[in-house]
Amino acid sequence: MAKSSQATWGGRFGAGPAELMLRFSESVSIDRRLAPFDIAGSKAHAAMLAHVGLLTRAEKNAIHKGLDSILEEIVAGTFKWSIRLEDVHMNIEQALTKRVPAAAKLPTARSRNDQVATDLRLFFKFACGVLREKLAAAERAVLACASRNSEIVIPGYTHLQRAQPVFLAHHLFAWMEMLERDRIRLAEVAAHANWCPLGSGALAGTTLPIDREFAARALGFVDARGRPQLTQNSMDAVADRDLCVEFAAACALAGVHFSRIAEDLILWSSAEFRFADLPEAFCTGSSLMPQKKNPDACELLRGKSGRLQGNLQALLTLTKGLPLTYNRDLQEDKAPVFDSFDQTALCADVLAAVAGGLRIYPLRCAVAAGDPALLATDLAEYLVLRGVPFREAHHAVGRAVALAEGKGVSLPGLTTADMRTVDRRFGADWATAFDLKRALQSRRGPGMPGPAQVARQFARWKKLLG
Ligand code: ARG
Repeated sequence: MAKSSQATWGGRFGAGPAELMLRFSESVSIDRRLAPFDIAGSKAHAAMLAHVGLLTRAEKNAIHKGLDSILEEIVAGTFKWSIRLEDVHMNIEQALTKRVPAAAKLPTARSRNDQVATDLRLFFKFACGVLREKLAAAERAVLACASRNSEIVIPGYTHLQRAQPVFLAHHLFAWMEMLERDRIRLAEVAAHANWCPLGSGALAGTTLPIDREFAARALGFVDARGRPQLTQNSMDAVADRDLCVEFAAACALAGVHFSRIAEDLILWSSAEFRFADLPEAFCTGSSLMPQKKNPDACELLRGKSGRLQGNLQALLTLTKGLPLTYNRDLQEDKAPVFDSFDQTALCADVLAAVAGGLRIYPLRCAVAAGDPALLATDLAEYLVLRGVPFREAHHAVGRAVALAEGKGVSLPGLTTADMRTVDRRFGADWATAFDLKRALQSRRGPGMPGPAQVARQFARWKKLLG
């Protein structure tokens, strides 16, 4: 048994918890990274208590000074954390009480339940901002790659079979759309986090005359006009972990996007495609096969997505069926949340670096994009412009493909006479459909891969990310 009763709640206990219980129930090894938010929350709470007369100004100032010095020690790495004190909140509270007697008043009208809810919301606002910036950096690296290779055309794929030609930039912009949606989602999570739970107490508020708006303002839980935003139900405020789920979901989906981008890169860098060369610094060799250059960074981007989905699943399972309000189960929310943050941040950095060092092989791309089969649809559309219903046009070109295959030539290798046997509505100019430049130029509608649209997208992304 651990000696002495626990200082914050030990009053009703004869002896301390078992050593095993301490190891089992501590969260400080994980939640200590909430310290800066915990201290900010405590400073705001102390200021509020002074504002309503529950602390003197001198007491508040002493508490603020004490909290500042504790934060300095934490940042410097000299602060002594103890699992005996369970979590980040009690570690800081006890250290403060040792230095500042008035700190015994700090828990007035506050429970660890609304405290941890506040810390988490502050963390989410911070974390979403960090991830949004890192994703923007990754987008900038992809945009720079598109700029370096703006003339390159590659086949676009469906079913991993060559489908239709696109500018490489158009493909890269598709990645950027995915990442940009992740950024928007994270901004929404941050907006959802922007409601202050302080004052909810353990679950039923307090009888003391506190000023919730004051604390919310002090912590920046305000709307665009600076008006404080308060959670509206004290029970929900301490039981709610939706933000953990929302944050993990945004990270999981970003992970799915990283994995799809990574898979494109893995394919492109294979000998079978050879459209691209990955930066050496983000590849590894084989201990056995001397020729190998393996795309490990991309494979890990792909693999980490499983981990990010696991974190989301863990949080959903953790909260499912929990009775209101706070239950200790909820302490398990932090490990998956922090892991999702750390891994998503790392993935974004790695993607930025890989895109930054990506080299494109113009010749291999040109050969692949020069495959005339990519323009079979254009040939059908040529017939459509001559009044042929698309289904008939599609069928006619299909027969031409079969004929070319039988003759062992490519589609444009057929003669006009051949084409007329397939469908007499083919004109003498049918082969113009195989002019790649023209084919791309014709794709001029919004969102299409034609050069005019790609130029517009370059401008749009430069403005957005500038
Ligand atoms: N470490 C706890 C957690 O993260 C803080 C809240 C503890 N509340 C309680 N009633 N034991 O969930």
